[in-house]
Amino acid sequence: MKKVILTGDRPTGRLHLGHYVGSLRQRIELQNSGEYDEIYIMIADAQALTDNMENPEKVRQNIVEVALDYLSCGLDPEKSTIHIQSQIPELFELTAYYMNLVTVSRLQRNPTVKAEIQLRNFEASIPVGFLAYPISQAADITAFKATTVPVGEDQQPMLEQTREIVRKFNSIYGETLIEPETLLPDNKACLRLPGIDGKAKMSKSLGNCIYLSDSEEEVRKKVMSMFTDPNHLRVSDPGQVEGNPVFIYLDAFCRDEQFERYLPEYKNLDEMKAHYRRGGLGDVKVKKFLNAVLQEELEPIRKKRREFEKDIPYVYEILRKGTEKAREVAASTLADVKRAMKINYFEDAELINEHIRKFSK
Ligand code: TRP
Repeated sequence: MKKVILTGDRPTGRLHLGHYVGSLRQRIELQNSGEYDEIYIMIADAQALTDNMENPEKVRQNIVEVALDYLSCGLDPEKSTIHIQSQIPELFELTAYYMNLVTVSRLQRNPTVKAEIQLRNFEASIPVGFLAYPISQAADITAFKATTVPVGEDQQPMLEQTREIVRKFNSIYGETLIEPETLLPDNKACLRLPGIDGKAKMSKSLGNCIYLSDSEEEVRKKVMSMFTDPNHLRVSDPGQVEGNPVFIYLDAFCRDEQFERYLPEYKNLDEMKAHYRRGGLGDVKVKKFLNAVLQEELEPIRKKRREFEKDIPYVYEILRKGTEKAREVAASTLADVKRAMKINYFEDAELINEHIRKFSK
């Protein structure tokens, strides 16, 4: 069986460190591993509209921002097909057929959807399109016959829903769709990166993000203002490492060799953590180290972004070509689906002949 990756992002803002450690960084590694036959990266603008219906301009502006973030992180259009969801109508046809396989109560039980409904005050009146977006996400995934979906932890319920749809479809209409597996980041700190304010999630709506495209100065300022252990008041006080965002970021980003370069008094993060726990290590010093670590990771990305920003027509060309290619694949899956459901009437010679016989009697 072919190994196929599909994943994507909603274009509601520039991508941030949470996206990066949660999925983007791993996508680049998977892309460059050469182990996958096909890789599809979706800019999920139609999904973004399910809770931004009043603000299409935001989505419209952010498609190119997300594309720039992708390219500057190292997604290579020769290896990864970057495409725009709304320009592939076959996805909506698949969604419509899958809708018959899912109950409203099943959608209402989806923990990610539940949390989002609360966050957006949708309780009293949930838009149908929003409630149904896990079904449309199942269409995204199955349209490309994806075997592997690298995503952050919050997307697990969508994958569960997708697998249910696949099993149900295949059991009714015969083996047609592929059941995908989730690929989570292997580093625990990367599963859900907290915001710089210490809140559970880095999120645009909470205003607690470090963006991949932030300038060096913006990153430095944000790092220096980060929430740490509120009980670590004096340098000499013992500090807590668990749940301390500065250390969670270090868990997600720093490598041993960076201590040699920036902070040779420690061999590795464990030694630094031990000192912090004992007391005697100040937040400013930890933050300065974190800043150095982050700048090292982000500077090449910023540099590449500036290059791509100079050639926006090329970026649009990548998106157009990627979307064309993706559309062909989705169309071929839709044809499989319609054949399996026996709703391909005009190419169903057997059906037509049967009717000729039936009505000639
Ligand atoms: N739901 C994802 C997000 O919020 C975006 C997305 C849309 C996606 N379709 C997908 C992710 C298919 C993985 C596979 O970021």
